[in-house]
Amino acid sequence: MKLAITEAYVLLLWSCLLLISGLEVHDISYDYSATTECLVEPQRAHYGGGIIVNPGFDLSIDGWTVFGKAVIEHRQSKAGNRFIVALNRTKHLDSFSQKVQLEKGIIYSFSAWVQLSEGSEMVSVIFKDNSSTEGIHGGQVMAERGCWTLLKGGIVANISGPVDILFESKNTTVEIWVDSVSLQPFTKQQWRSHQDKSIDKVRKSRVRLQITHINETTPEGASVLITQNKPGFPFGCGMNHYILQSTEYQNWFLSRFTHTTFTNEMKWYSTEKKQGQENYTIADAMLKFAEENGISVRGHNIFWDNPQHQPEWVKSLSTQELQKATARRINSVVSRYKGELIAWDVVNENLHFSFYEDKLSQNASAEYYAATYQLDPKPILFLNEYNTIEDSRDKAVTAVNYKKKLEQVLSFPGCAKISAGIGLQGHFSSGQPNVAYMRSALDLLGTTGFPIWLTEVSVAPDPNQEQYLEEILREAYSHPAVHGIITFSGPAMAGFNETTLVDENFLNTPAGEVVDKLIDEWKFKPQEAKVDNKGYVDVLLFHGDYDVTVMHPVTNSSKTVSLSVSKDVPQETIVKIHT
Ligand SMILES: *[C@@H]1O[C@H](CO)[C@@H](O)[C@H](O)[C@H]1NC(C)=O
Ligand SMILES: *[C@@H]1O[C@H](CO)[C@@H](O)[C@H](O)[C@H]1NC(C)=O
Ligand SMILES: *[C@@H]1O[C@H](CO)[C@@H](O)[C@H](O)[C@H]1NC(C)=O
Ligand SMILES: *[C@@H]1O[C@H](CO)[C@@H](O)[C@H](O)[C@H]1NC(C)=O
Ligand SMILES: *[C@@H]1O[C@H](CO)[C@@H](O)[C@H](O)[C@H]1NC(C)=O
Ligand SMILES: *[C@@H]1O[C@H](CO)[C@@H](O)[C@H](O)[C@H]1NC(C)=O
Ligand SMILES: *[C@@H]1O[C@H](CO)[C@@H](O)[C@H](O)[C@H]1NC(C)=O
Ligand SMILES: *[C@@H]1O[C@H](CO)[C@@H](O)[C@H](O)[C@H]1NC(C)=O
Ligand SMILES: *[C@@H]1O[C@H](CO)[C@@H](O)[C@H](O)[C@H]1NC(C)=O
Repeated sequence: MKLAITEAYVLLLWSCLLLISGLEVHDISYDYSATTECLVEPQRAHYGGGIIVNPGFDLSIDGWTVFGKAVIEHRQSKAGNRFIVALNRTKHLDSFSQKVQLEKGIIYSFSAWVQLSEGSEMVSVIFKDNSSTEGIHGGQVMAERGCWTLLKGGIVANISGPVDILFESKNTTVEIWVDSVSLQPFTKQQWRSHQDKSIDKVRKSRVRLQITHINETTPEGASVLITQNKPGFPFGCGMNHYILQSTEYQNWFLSRFTHTTFTNEMKWYSTEKKQGQENYTIADAMLKFAEENGISVRGHNIFWDNPQHQPEWVKSLSTQELQKATARRINSVVSRYKGELIAWDVVNENLHFSFYEDKLSQNASAEYYAATYQLDPKPILFLNEYNTIEDSRDKAVTAVNYKKKLEQVLSFPGCAKISAGIGLQGHFSSGQPNVAYMRSALDLLGTTGFPIWLTEVSVAPDPNQEQYLEEILREAYSHPAVHGIITFSGPAMAGFNETTLVDENFLNTPAGEVVDKLIDEWKFKPQEAKVDNKGYVDVLLFHGDYDVTVMHPVTNSSKTVSLSVSKDVPQETIVKIHT
């Protein structure tokens, strides 16, 4: 009887919350904040908890049930804050859970504050429906004893139905403590509208042009024509050696992109197939082509930590021989391209793999970053990994672990001053990408202040490939911490069979249509405006390089000045132009 009343109460509460969130939902905009600080008391639940019942445990543990074999209870801090605890756990999923109803196509943003009774362990949030035994990983955090850490993540529902939200920690001897849980639904339209607002804020600047005659009077009736010559945001595409032989490939590339990475041609296994016989012919020719056409190049890569992707002869070297060979490699390739590259992927995939660490020294990667910086201090030196934004199950490369690895490299002697970059490959498999998870990883890595680039974006073949590609590119472009995007995609004739942008006849595939649409959308279209009676023209400009032409109303004489708008130019900048 008592139970029934509690259930009715929960139901009532549930429908009130739904009503409230139904009313408020249009005003809720996603912020990109994150914190890696561990706090004495947790913050309040984001979005008031969203659709979570009793998110702050003010009502004891109402709305929450045991999952598996744990004991669950509520506790109170000295300051009076209440939270939920799972103890006496025996399996890694044993915890507390709440059932929520997911709707297909809705994006759910998740957050919670987590603490442990002992030590420091990874805690994940799991969305589990009745069919799967493991469930879908929605995010994770390194939780610890003594303070609260923010776990951020989410899920994009690909089916409608109930799921249990629960928490996982491999170490069952620790108690999991949780507070301020939030699950906020967004429709794809709402998500998109937040992205568009963010794009206006982070990719554009409001500029006031002030037009005067030399004697400081206003040229009444004058008009200005504003044209963008080059977009400021690096949106590029990988290229391979086929570009050297195909003018069609060249024309296709040059009419779209400003930045590139050579997919394989700078790699060690390409430039030194046989020990001691370096051959840079192809990489040199590709770099020459890029430079002649104003294309900026990211260097990729000096070393690759995956044992399978070494030059064949490297695999059998002794420690001493390997030491010598790596020193020669780094000197050779970095010196050769000194001053010509905007970035280097120094040790590719050094979170997943450890070829050099295993063979040489636990500090091998860090030493290569220091050595690269010594040889060429200018390029941004990147870590470059896959799955950090694309696969929430891959614990080795979570944003938390990525940040730790980066900090470890930077703390090595000789690395303190390098300009570091965060490279996220972005090789997405088929199926609905989890943009809520992707955003939470970007939010967390964004707290480092280092520029994030998506370096190798691709989406596996899928009936909805173009839609997924668009969702991923929009998510990256709208995120304030992202400074550039390169896709590993291209023409069928060059072997880009994963994400093919044009077919054998250079006609757009659906994915190619998406890329062209976004290039066009993220470009400022030529605009003519009349100078007002104070001599002002106010415009919102995408970052980039512009020509501004002022036309005199009577004489038709004109004057053109160039203008560079970047995020370093403060909003509301006044540009004075004397005619
Ligand atoms: C947890 O397990 C311990 C040891 O098995 C037991 O003594 C204790 O009573 C259990 N706690 C609860 C709340 O059930
Ligand atoms: C589990 O956590 C406890 C408490 O921090 C620690 O002593 C123990 O070593 C951990 N066990 C494993 C397998 O990590
Ligand atoms: C939904 O997503 C999960 C996890 O990615 C996947 O295993 C499952 O096959 C998907 N289901 C459908 C109907 O797409
Ligand atoms: C799982 O849940 C779905 C959706 O509520 C339901 O249709 C299905 O019958 C359930 N399956 C099992 C095995 O309980
Ligand atoms: C200022 O210069 C413009 C253009 O040379 C001229 O048309 C105008 O008469 C001048 N005004 C004054 C007040 O000198
Ligand atoms: C270097 O590579 C180019 C392109 O593959 C090839 O034509 C040339 O013969 C190679 N040079 C040597 C010395 O092997
Ligand atoms: C790695 O570098 C750290 C920092 O310089 C040093 O303390 C440590 O001894 C090094 N370890 C090895 C195996 O060289
Ligand atoms: C693309 O081509 C490579 C190399 O031939 C092959 O291993 C891979 O399976 C292909 N991928 C697809 C999606 O066809
Ligand atoms: C200026 O251009 C307008 C429109 O093209 C034209 O009607 C006018 O005659 C031109 N004035 C002069 C001085 O060339």
